[in-house]
Amino acid sequence: MNLKKKPKRNQNHFYHSVTKNVLFCITGSIAAIKAPFIIRALKDQGFLVTCIVTEAAKKFITPFSLTLLSDNTCYEDLDFWSENNLHINLARTHDILLIAPATANTIAKCATGIANNLMLNCFVAFEGKKVIVPAMHAEMINSKIVQNNIEKCKNMGCLILGPTYGNLLSEDKGEGRMIEPEEIARCITSLQFNKLNLRDKPILITAGGTTEDIDPVRTLSNRSSGKLGESLARLAYINDAKVIVISSHLIENIGYQKVVKISNSNELKQSMDDSMGSIETLIMAAAVSDYLPIYQNQKIRREKQTEILVEKNEDVLSYITKTYEPKITVGFCLQDDINDSKTPFEKLHQKKCNYIIANDSSNIANDKRSYKIYNANSCIDSFKDVSVHEAAYNILKNIS
Ligand SMILES: Cc1cc2nc3c(=O)[nH]c(=O)nc-3n(C[C@H](O)[C@H](O)[C@H](O)COP(=O)(O)O)c2cc1C
Repeated sequence: MNLKKKPKRNQNHFYHSVTKNVLFCITGSIAAIKAPFIIRALKDQGFLVTCIVTEAAKKFITPFSLTLLSDNTCYEDLDFWSENNLHINLARTHDILLIAPATANTIAKCATGIANNLMLNCFVAFEGKKVIVPAMHAEMINSKIVQNNIEKCKNMGCLILGPTYGNLLSEDKGEGRMIEPEEIARCITSLQFNKLNLRDKPILITAGGTTEDIDPVRTLSNRSSGKLGESLARLAYINDAKVIVISSHLIENIGYQKVVKISNSNELKQSMDDSMGSIETLIMAAAVSDYLPIYQNQKIRREKQTEILVEKNEDVLSYITKTYEPKITVGFCLQDDINDSKTPFEKLHQKKCNYIIANDSSNIANDKRSYKIYNANSCIDSFKDVSVHEAAYNILKNIS
């Protein structure tokens, strides 16, 4: 690498379609053994990856395997002293600097500007977005000193992802587990969009489909994957919103205020009741069952009953908007005909929403989304076959 001229970062386009370069820094945590999966996930999302390892990281993962997997040089401290201006060249030629896992030691140095290895010199020199993904034991992550250092990094504009609750080293369980490689890559992908003005905005996002009991063994559900809701939550968090997520799917807590796992519409309503207090923006992406089965205490026997009895379910969104009157409410409307504009307006008024996202059933659980955004007056935007990440961006951009 011998780039003398500083390349210009592309800052004006809302979405950068050109391939992005990630400077992936790995430090001395046991979670470093997951670095190959992070590389794979980043490459799957179209990123070019250059690795740097600290001396401690080399105890857990070899530069040779990282070179093979990234298909690129893996730099270490030895290179710092042999290649001219390496840290500046690496900082200038990459778009995102990612530290995963980030140890307590490295976070402390990032917070204070200590630059006594190649990785930390790149960190100080780097002018683009810096992402820190901590991994350590619960006692360490919960210590005041680590929390203060994380706060300092946050205040300097670093994006902190996780850590989350889960299995730790030595059969321990608790806070401190690094978030999963695929989720790290999804967050890096979401960083490609222009900044949204969501700082400190309290947002509640619901995601996934509800599952209602028919009898002790059977359920009535729908195919909602929760992907769009989770993408909305991720993007809102990355843009500094205070996000609460309620979902029927497992959601990794990358830094949300609260994550609630629900199953049926009654649990959804209850958890929304518990969370709406300070919420200004509500995005109701969850697919709530329109029908509630009349519950049978014993397994329905086929020789006795051939019909499933249902009643109309309460409209949870209407109940919430009437009870809490959030400043902004976004509802969703699934239509057979996406060109039918009458139904979205009807729903918008009935449910007291500010926006309705109209889509058809081809969107459910699909990686590509087509939809229209309505406000009280008109259809304000329309998209065809965009990624879930882009769909989330377009929605948040229109409502923020
Ligand atoms: C087995 C083992 C596991 C470790 N795991 C972690 C960890 O998960 N998080 C952490 O902050 N430090 C961990 N450490 C301590 C770091 O390796 C140590 O602080 C080192 O100096 C970090 O250097 P670096 O930040 O330059 O990579 C671990 C140490 C050992 C021996």
